[in-house]
Amino acid sequence: MKVLLIGSGGREHALAWKLAQSPLLTTLYAAPGNPGIAECATLVALDIEDHEAVAAFCADNGVSFVVVGPEAPLVAGLADVLRAKGIDVFGPSAAAAQLEGSKGFTKDLCAKYDIPTGAYQRFTDAAAAKAYVNEQGAPIVIKADGLAAGKGVTVAMTLDEALAAIDDCFDGAFGAAGAEVVVEAFLDGEEASFFCLCDGVNALPLASAQDHKRVGDGDTGPNTGGMGAYSPAPVMTPDMVERTMREIIEPTIRGMAADGHAFQGVLFAGLMITAKGPELIEYNVRFGDPECQVLMMRLDSDLLPILHASAVGRLDKVTAEWRDAPALTVVMASKGYPGAYEKNTPILSLPADDATTKVFHAGTALKDGHLVATGGRVLNVTAVAPSVAEAQKAAYAAVDAVTWDNGFCRRDIGWRAVAREQA
Ligand code: AMP
Ligand code: GLY
Repeated sequence: MKVLLIGSGGREHALAWKLAQSPLLTTLYAAPGNPGIAECATLVALDIEDHEAVAAFCADNGVSFVVVGPEAPLVAGLADVLRAKGIDVFGPSAAAAQLEGSKGFTKDLCAKYDIPTGAYQRFTDAAAAKAYVNEQGAPIVIKADGLAAGKGVTVAMTLDEALAAIDDCFDGAFGAAGAEVVVEAFLDGEEASFFCLCDGVNALPLASAQDHKRVGDGDTGPNTGGMGAYSPAPVMTPDMVERTMREIIEPTIRGMAADGHAFQGVLFAGLMITAKGPELIEYNVRFGDPECQVLMMRLDSDLLPILHASAVGRLDKVTAEWRDAPALTVVMASKGYPGAYEKNTPILSLPADDATTKVFHAGTALKDGHLVATGGRVLNVTAVAPSVAEAQKAAYAAVDAVTWDNGFCRRDIGWRAVAREQA
């Protein structure tokens, strides 16, 4: 099978690395890709916003299956255009991608199908939103409705913070994404990410992970796209997984199908495990980044037939086998991230990959044959080991073998799980 992978981040490097190991693969193309992905795929200079150009590339090169990594092309309808031309696609239609593209859409689905989530209201003007917040009190959560690159959410511990966040949204801090605001009850508990493949009807649970969203050690500082992750999340016990499937994922799949936009692809549920059980914080319609990196390190099965089964409605015919060993990834970012950072700083050396450690590339590029950092999140140093503590040790040993003056990372990725192991 000839496959085209869309995307250029660490998530896509992990997907490419795993897809490239498939005996069913003949050629793997990636657009636009990055230097890490180039080690396992043929890079194609396609404008992925030009959906017709992507379809034409597939037709010209005999590509029968497209795997879409990031959410933006899905929300923009890339999967619809490709499917209309008879190409199989891993990833939802634009209508189904609203699960990530509109927080209000997801909250309404939860209300309609009785899926546990925080109480909420949607607003299109600041005065009404503020009146509601004043009535509810703090802590409370303010969310820009649309895609805001993970930055549209304010968990306000005080009323003043909440009111300021409402002004920010309506004053355009998140562009069009903030034209509507969702105000949501604060959920108290431990967060976990849960991943499940869907083919419109069937579900195949994958695995859980825990991200580290804050930039600084001890979960301090501003939110980022994720500074590190590990899998599995200990809080996702077999009982919690079973409840998440029954109370959250299965009603979502049934509801989406009943409402006329069946969901195909990966459902990434951001969960809060509260005293009552699992509650949905949000859905994403693609793999997490960097969660995908740890999932791929733990996946024993061939990834290609599983993703393809999701695309063609055959998920009931496949299984996914996982290593019991946990995996952990440390994100190395450009100094200054998530604020402004310098671009094109040299990465002079990387540790060699081995059977249990692997460096995935995110924001890297080759300039005159030399590796440079071009993005905020740049490298994902990943290890798998018998315990989270050992995976953490191995990942940081590999981090210390990276020669990149302008890079930094958190030093405590996995702290919750390590503390649990040592308790
Ligand atoms: P989101 O972009 O919706 O995942 O939100 C970003 C982060 O804000 C989440 O990972 C949580 O840490 C936090 N958050 C979002 N919604 C809530 C909520 N209702 N209660 C508590 N924390 C929340
Ligand atoms: N790491 C969080 C995300 O991919 O949304």
